[in-house]
Amino acid sequence: MHRGKGMKFVGDSRVPAERMPNIPKDYSEYPGKTEAFWPNFLLKEWMVGAVFLVGYLVLTVAHYSPLERIADPTDASYIPLPDWYFLFLYQLLKYEFASGDYTVLGAVVIPGIAFGALLLAPFLDRGPERRPIKRPIASGLMLLAIASIFWLTYESVSNHDWEAAAKQGAIVEERQIDTSHQGYEIWLQQGSCIGCHGENMQGNPGVAPSVFEHDYTKEEIMKIIVEGVPGMPGGLFAGTEEELEILAEYIAADGMPE
Ligand code: HEC
Repeated sequence: MHRGKGMKFVGDSRVPAERMPNIPKDYSEYPGKTEAFWPNFLLKEWMVGAVFLVGYLVLTVAHYSPLERIADPTDASYIPLPDWYFLFLYQLLKYEFASGDYTVLGAVVIPGIAFGALLLAPFLDRGPERRPIKRPIASGLMLLAIASIFWLTYESVSNHDWEAAAKQGAIVEERQIDTSHQGYEIWLQQGSCIGCHGENMQGNPGVAPSVFEHDYTKEEIMKIIVEGVPGMPGGLFAGTEEELEILAEYIAADGMPE
């Protein structure tokens, strides 16, 4: 008789060789008891995932995204700020050695070396040691990278003018104006005014305020339009004296004359 004939070999004598359909092998007697991937492990994973998913949903409902006004591609005065996880790269581009003529250095070369080294790390550092203290070069570079990222992010946050940023991104509700009024018709004929104050008369951030910004009287408004004010040249009005008066009255009535 041949040795082993009719005998089934299994990895562990405590695990029966016969597999029952849909019942996972019983690994319970192994040291460091494990469990079946399907369905036990996957079910746990899925439950944890569901908890986080619901958590995020609740968070997004409770805290709305800090949105700003609708993006305006013609507004060159708007200074965009990247999200927090890119702030360190953003800050890097502010230093002289990485900006201006050296933008390529700050935008491509320095981050390229840093992230390239991260990719190459498994090939560069092939020693068997796992303890950080026994790998001074790798550990040192990692600490340096973490320190630089924290420092640059901190610098970027503390150098940013948050008040100005809130102002330039503020959502301003558009005031209702009576566009069927003759005053508005006269306004539409004033190409120069529209260029600064906009067709809706309500200003452009960084260029001109809303014409309704202050509660001026009709006479004051006529004076402003004729003589100008700092930031706005006078003598731009194209029309008759009568039209000027109608427009000034219209503005004085906040665009809503009865
Ligand atoms: C070069 C851009 C520019 C143009 C063109 C211009 N404005 Fe102005 N306007 C301004 C600025 C800036 C101010 C705010 C000045 C200040 O700080 O008081 C202003 C202020 C005003 C105000 C006072 C608003 C307030 O409540 O403070 C009125 C009214 C006004 N403009 C009407 C006009 C009219 C009408 C025209 C066209 C004839 C015109 N503007 C053309 C830039 C402009």
